[in-house]
Amino acid sequence: MRKFVVAILLVAVFCTSVFAQGAGEKNAVVPNNQKPVVFFNRQPSDPVTGVIDMDVMNWNDKTYYVGFDAAGGGAVQGQLIVDFLANADPAVVDRNGDGVIGYVLCIGDVGHNDSKARTQGIREALGTWAGSTDPGVAQEGSANVGGTTMPVVELDSRAMTGTDGTTWNANAATDAMMNWATRLGDQIDMVISNNDGMAMGCLQASNYPEGVPVFGYDANADAIEAIGAGRLTGTVSQNVDAQATATLQVIRNLLDGLTGDAVVTAGITEPDQYGNKISAAVDYVAETKAVLAQNTGVNASNWTEYQAGSRDAGIKQTDAPTKRVLLTIYNSGDNFLSSSYIPALNYYAPLLNIDLTIVQGDGQNESSCLDRFTNVGSYDAFAINMVKTNSGWDYLDKLQY
Ligand code: BGC
Repeated sequence: MRKFVVAILLVAVFCTSVFAQGAGEKNAVVPNNQKPVVFFNRQPSDPVTGVIDMDVMNWNDKTYYVGFDAAGGGAVQGQLIVDFLANADPAVVDRNGDGVIGYVLCIGDVGHNDSKARTQGIREALGTWAGSTDPGVAQEGSANVGGTTMPVVELDSRAMTGTDGTTWNANAATDAMMNWATRLGDQIDMVISNNDGMAMGCLQASNYPEGVPVFGYDANADAIEAIGAGRLTGTVSQNVDAQATATLQVIRNLLDGLTGDAVVTAGITEPDQYGNKISAAVDYVAETKAVLAQNTGVNASNWTEYQAGSRDAGIKQTDAPTKRVLLTIYNSGDNFLSSSYIPALNYYAPLLNIDLTIVQGDGQNESSCLDRFTNVGSYDAFAINMVKTNSGWDYLDKLQY
């Protein structure tokens, strides 16, 4: 019965479209289920296993994911920490002189594959990986500290869920850090966080042990400044400008009628018809329909290259026809999305002549986004950042007809 109703509706939409064209209108009515859908930052995947949901990704031939190389990023973060230790003085880093490097870890969102990849990358680099990304599951590792091999111990790790249920919660990190500093004292030789928001949250703890190295991820503007000021030791750039532009560019390409490889190369790895091209390296993984920016480590040696305000000069004003895009953000309070991703979207969208409507959720309930994922017929395309990584169908169901 459902299929029959869908068929009738599709015929009705098709007839409307043909009629509209016949009447001399330029724009045919496109059924919602044939419009471009780009998931970004939160990849449709199983929150437990991290396995990518290809049913969602194959919703239509205009469905893509834009993010960054999560596994590669975990490795970059691990290497940043290993390089720091290799160049450190054991007598300074090992604060209590017990011959062991102890660290605490802020995980973020245990159901998010970015978070999982970082936990794995850090633990693998330090030898503490015990086959799981769960909090508390780590073995004793070892690292080269200034030429001496020393054991490394993960003293504690926490997901960092806020009292309201939000993930990647910076306030939870502040509370955890207060607790760690009191309970573990000078056993803590390093603080490692899977994002900058939580790293900066740790630094907010009134009893933060002065001078203890702290690592984040995202290269948010405040984190970059904190590296310059010597407060944060390192972070990783997931190249937000390349991601925000690629999210818009894939949509632009699909709306311009490009097909095949051109959807993921025009304006991304090659100049598009307007002469634009993202300057940073971006890869395409065909099996998962994923366009991925690359990561780079940031520390005291190169932080000035990542200071706020530097936008990609490869993207200039186009004369492309204006298109309307509805875009969701899972949590208006997310540090990375609000301080880095949305400003980048707002910068590049007008250049690509994309008229963005951004709706933001509360980070806990999918309905906080879904309830505003409405009036879909009046948009040309959709960009989706889900609250839960397995909620893709809740959005796609709204685009059935
Ligand atoms: C970022 C986190 C952010 C999360 C939101 C991650 O890629 O590194 O800072 O909270 O995306 O989905």
